[in-house]
Amino acid sequence: MNSPIIDALEKKEKERAVHAHGSFPYEILKQLEAVLPDSMENTAETGCGRSTILFPNISKNHFAFCIDDHDYKDQSSVLYFEDSEMGIKDRVTWEFGPTQKTLPRYTHNCQYDCVLIDGPHGYPFPDMEYYFFYPHIKPGGYLIIDDIHIPSIGRMADILQEDAMWNFITLISTTAVLQRTEAEETPTFGDQWWTQDYNRRRVNPQMEFFLDDGQKLESFASRNARREKRENAPKHMKIFYKIRNLFG
Ligand SMILES: C[S@@+](CC[C@H](N)C(=O)[O-])C[C@H]1O[C@@H](n2cnc3c(N)ncnc32)[C@H](O)[C@@H]1O
Repeated sequence: MNSPIIDALEKKEKERAVHAHGSFPYEILKQLEAVLPDSMENTAETGCGRSTILFPNISKNHFAFCIDDHDYKDQSSVLYFEDSEMGIKDRVTWEFGPTQKTLPRYTHNCQYDCVLIDGPHGYPFPDMEYYFFYPHIKPGGYLIIDDIHIPSIGRMADILQEDAMWNFITLISTTAVLQRTEAEETPTFGDQWWTQDYNRRRVNPQMEFFLDDGQKLESFASRNARREKRENAPKHMKIFYKIRNLFG
């Protein structure tokens, strides 16, 4: 796998609890690094941690929207970044404070190549963050949604993976990666629920905008249940799953 940055980070750090809110495991970040372009102009994330080390290594301008948790001392995600030799400090712009406060008043001065949603996880905060970011993600840009095993976050990802604005790229453990299409954006001050494919495929078939195109995607809850089943399976079944995957 092509993940030189996270390989180097892993070598530098002994595996340890990075901060109070939990961090991306190296294996997931390595796969993310392999999926993302190795050079981007503008990226953003909500929250902070190991991902904040990866981004400025592959992006000229990285914007981190997170609470200032310096007080957490050795559990602080911001201090973790600041203390790391690998975090490129002058490429990161901080917007400190709860995203519930900072995002609604923030003026984005660029279009992003990639946005990671990984700040507050309770409903409706990731949805709220999506709302404030989606008009600013460029066609071809990536949206990464972490923790889709949390039902309300999985539900948002279910809706987006069927939205014309997004293509589902991959699921890395419980992290979903989507890519912005060229489709027109949902107007931020509009409504348009009836034009959204997730809704059209699930309304009463009698409705004129019902979309019977057979394109309903498997929910993230179901994919996650399959993954957990695979991971908890006895050894001989794990070998069987591996062989089955090899043959598609
Ligand atoms: C799960 S961690 C992010 C992990 C990180 N992506 C990594 O790779 O290690 C969640 C982060 O969100 C921050 N956070 C929690 N609530 C927040 C809020 N309301 N607004 C902004 N950031 C928040 C935490 O301080 C923490 O940095």
